[in-house]
Amino acid sequence: MSDEDVELEARLEEQEVFEPSDSFVEQANVSDAGIYDEFEENWPECWEQAAELLDWEEEYDQVLDNSNPPFYEWFTDGTINASTNCLDRHLDERGDEAAIEWVGEPVDEDNVTLTYSELHEKVNEAAAALRDLGVGEDDVVTMYMPMIPELPIAMLACARIGAPHSVVFAGFSADALATRMNAADSEYLVTCDGYYRRGDPLDHLDKANEGLSGVEHDTETVVVDRLGPNGDDFGHDLAEDQHDWGELMAAHEGAEVEPVDRDAEDMLFLMYTSGTTGEPKGVKHTTGGYLSWTAWTSQAVLDIKPEDTYFCSADIGWITGHSYIVYGPLALGTTTMMYEGTPDHPDRDRLWEIVEEYEANQLYTAPTAIRAFMKWGTEYPDEHDLSSLRLLGTVGEPINPRAWKWYYKHIGNEECPVVDTWWQTETGGMMVTTLPGVKDMKPGSAGPPLPGLDARIVDTNGEEVDPGRAGYLTVNKPWPGMLRTLYKNDERFIEEYWAEYSDTDSSNSDDWVYFPEDGAKIDEDGYITVLGRVDDVINVSGHRLGTMEIESAIVGVEGVAEAAVVGGDHEVKGEAVYAYVITEEGQEETDEFREEIVQGVLDAIGPIARPEQVIFTPELPKTRSGKIMRRLLEDIANEEDLGDTSTLRNPEIVEDIRKVVQED
Ligand code: PRX
Repeated sequence: MSDEDVELEARLEEQEVFEPSDSFVEQANVSDAGIYDEFEENWPECWEQAAELLDWEEEYDQVLDNSNPPFYEWFTDGTINASTNCLDRHLDERGDEAAIEWVGEPVDEDNVTLTYSELHEKVNEAAAALRDLGVGEDDVVTMYMPMIPELPIAMLACARIGAPHSVVFAGFSADALATRMNAADSEYLVTCDGYYRRGDPLDHLDKANEGLSGVEHDTETVVVDRLGPNGDDFGHDLAEDQHDWGELMAAHEGAEVEPVDRDAEDMLFLMYTSGTTGEPKGVKHTTGGYLSWTAWTSQAVLDIKPEDTYFCSADIGWITGHSYIVYGPLALGTTTMMYEGTPDHPDRDRLWEIVEEYEANQLYTAPTAIRAFMKWGTEYPDEHDLSSLRLLGTVGEPINPRAWKWYYKHIGNEECPVVDTWWQTETGGMMVTTLPGVKDMKPGSAGPPLPGLDARIVDTNGEEVDPGRAGYLTVNKPWPGMLRTLYKNDERFIEEYWAEYSDTDSSNSDDWVYFPEDGAKIDEDGYITVLGRVDDVINVSGHRLGTMEIESAIVGVEGVAEAAVVGGDHEVKGEAVYAYVITEEGQEETDEFREEIVQGVLDAIGPIARPEQVIFTPELPKTRSGKIMRRLLEDIANEEDLGDTSTLRNPEIVEDIRKVVQED
């Protein structure tokens, strides 16, 4: 490092507040600090600003109907179609501009540019094909696909005909697919033969077929041929109820499908996410509120303009990809990028190569990726011209100040604001973050709630805690992008998100408080630092996993008597899965058995849930009422001071487990 660099590092190390540059502020979509007061005074009508970013078929009568909390309705009686908003309305001005720039994993492959006209054409053909297969309004269509252009095409085709989609992350297992299709009564599946991972073609249809064998009703499946001749080795023949995507599209060439008028409150999609129990939750998002929210936040926070090339490196199988690769950016008519592969293939500069080649203006990624980039070293970004970047963003987990500063300096060249955006599958879009053209940034802290949002940090009684003290994050006013319910389970919706801090007998919306199940603290300036989940959910590389789901996979393995799963700190992943396992009498505690347990998790969930360590233990630390003390197990995993263990039924066990962990 040169002397200059050393000096710079030292300055960054100490600096706690960063101002956005004048050049950014001058061109920002939102640069008037008055927006916070304006939205507060004019709530909920302020959200007309979001709805106005869209084209409505029928204007709405009321911005918010809060007469039946927590079943809020936004933009009531308005009708709208999401595919029209993401496609048709851009055709005149942006028809020949790229809507999607798709980059495949193989470097020597032809990448795909889809202009708005081409995407519109394909979405129409796919909509006609799906309809022909029998998909009707309100039928849930499942998609089990990697990052290929046919995924957003299928999503928008569904939106066009009013069929909600349910996208299942391609890395999830066959079992996970079956559970989600059964839960949603979904009779249609769009999937593909395979995709590329680190240079090799990977069989995906095999997994999809296995999942389908666990679906309890009849299904029709559409299969995209992603691999071409490279997939022939897998030797798949399509079954009678399986159709080739390419043939269907060819049969509907040139088709035009009239977009279905959807009520603002009609379901746009379902997304399954992990919760406290073993059953994933079907989060329901609506057409009008969700689309307004993603369009507005894309504009205000990501500073997206139609002429931008915007790059979010998330997977569309998660909410970030839904909101900020597909719906938000396309609603604004910008160019959105999709990358099929991993950032380190064929080399660790792949993302920077893509940013340089496409002259990306924004990069939105996860702290876990940034920590990996840091570990790999600055030589990879340094090889590339990243000067096209104007804004950087992070999402999915807390970002430590060191990683934030690394991103700011080495990727953003100290010129790009970094937005650390806190939100959830359930919130539909960003909630707590700085408006980059208005607010200073504080590394490690997401920022204040967005204008028009009321987020607070409270104690267990719901009283606000003093700045600097840890408490629970709550959202005290509804917002357009919020989930409306859990699919077919209003009761669990209330129980999971509202019961903790609301007066559930009240019909006054002021008595209802949304609880995202995150711990947080706030500073004197109202900046919120999110500390992490306070429920039994862990966050591995920005992916949300339920400990109960993993535990039920483990106890499903023959020879396991009991299991407890916790998140332990991990340098790159943020958290990693630690599994404490009690074996059945007679079961040998060997490495082979450890492997079987790991395989059980891979089969039930997928590689993202792979346990970092499987620890055999004779007992688990339990309270006198028999509840497993997860906090203690976490502390053991993190080698932290265990404090007072006297309320335990079996305090001596703690030392035993600790010894086993250390030996491992
Ligand atoms: O714990 C919070 C964490 O991720 C959870 C939501 O996970 P999921 O629904 O999968 O959505 C991820 C993408 C939006 C939250 O409850 N989280 C998300 N963003 C942040 C975060 N934690 C700290 N800082 C963030 N910026």
